[in-house]
Amino acid sequence: MKNIVLVVDDDKTNLMLAQKILIPTYRIAATNSGAAALKYLENNQPDLILLDINMPVMDGFEVMGRIREMEGKKDIPVIFLTADNATETEVKCFQVGAVDFVGKPFVPDILLSRVNKTIELEQYRHNLEIMVQEQAEKITRNARRVSMIQESVIVGMANLIESRDGSTGKHVKNTQMYVRMIMEELKRREMFREELTEEFIDDVCKAAPLHDVGKIKVPDAVLQKPGKLTEEEYETMKLHTTYSRKIIRMVISDVEDEHYVQIAQDIAMYHHERWDGTGYPAGLAGDGIPLAARIMAVADVFDALYEERCYKPPIRPIERIMQIMSEGRGTQFDPDIIDVFMGMLPQLKEVLHIT
Ligand SMILES: [Fe+2]
Repeated sequence: MKNIVLVVDDDKTNLMLAQKILIPTYRIAATNSGAAALKYLENNQPDLILLDINMPVMDGFEVMGRIREMEGKKDIPVIFLTADNATETEVKCFQVGAVDFVGKPFVPDILLSRVNKTIELEQYRHNLEIMVQEQAEKITRNARRVSMIQESVIVGMANLIESRDGSTGKHVKNTQMYVRMIMEELKRREMFREELTEEFIDDVCKAAPLHDVGKIKVPDAVLQKPGKLTEEEYETMKLHTTYSRKIIRMVISDVEDEHYVQIAQDIAMYHHERWDGTGYPAGLAGDGIPLAARIMAVADVFDALYEERCYKPPIRPIERIMQIMSEGRGTQFDPDIIDVFMGMLPQLKEVLHIT
C-alpha cells in the first residue's frame, strides 16, 4: 500500500505541482489552509506532511505547533516548504521540529528525493522501535523464567534440608505463605509504611525459604533428637542461624540484587532474636531486629506449634496456639506484629481449612 503524504499550501499551483511530482509514488491528500490540514489530521494519519510556511490566517509554524499538540500526531515527520531561503527561516524550521525543508519553486527531483528519504528513515525508525520493544519483552520474559527457576531451586534445596529433621516438609512453603499473609495485613493496616514496599514484600517472600538452610551443618543427632536438647546440643542448634547467613553469603552473594541478598541474610541470621533482647545469636532487641526477621519469627513459631515435630506433637486447637503466641507479645515478638497476627485468626483458619 502506498504511503500517504499530506500537502498543505495556500497556492493552488504549488499544490498541483507537488501532487504531480509525488502521485506516481504516494497517495496524496491536499489542503489549502492550516485549518483544513488540522481538520484532516483529526481522522487521518499521513506518513509525512509537506507544510508551506507562508499562508494567510495560520502560518506553517503555527500549524506545526498545533500538530505537535495533537494526540498521536507528534511523530509524523514534517517537511517545510518555503520560498524564503534566509538562514533564520531555515534555523527556525529545525527548531520547531521539522525534519527537512524544501525551497520553492520545487525542483521535482529534489522534492521527490527528500520525501522518499524522510519516509524511508521514518520506517527504519519505526521498525527499530518495534525491534527494541520486542527485545525488551523477550529479556523480561527470560528474566522472569530464570527467576522462577531460581526460586524453585531455592525452595527445593530448603525443603531437602528441612526434611532432615523429620518434619512434614511443609514448613518451607507454610512459613513463606504466613510471612506473605502477615505483610499483606500490615500493609492493609498501613503499618510500617516506609519499609513495606512492593520490593520488600517480594524479597521477603522469596528469601523466607532460606531461613533455616544453615541446618545442613547441624548434626542429625541434634536435629532429629526427640525430646529436649541438652544445653550443649542447644548451643549447636543455635548455630544454624549463623550457618544460614554464611551459606547465603557464599551461594547467592553474587546475585546482583543486593536488597534481596541483604533481606535473606537478615531473616536467616535474626529470626530467633526476641523483642526483649534474650534471643540468639546476637541478642538484638526491639527495632534493632530487622523487620523481615521480626515477621519471620512470628511465622516460624506459628508453624512450629501448628505442625508436628520430632520433639513435639502438633498443638490444637489453633486458638490455643494464638493464646501461647499472645503471651510472647513484647517479650518474644514485636507487639505491633503480634497484635495484627492475633486478628488474622479467620484468614489462618481459612488457609488451614479449619472449620
Ligand atoms: Fe530457625
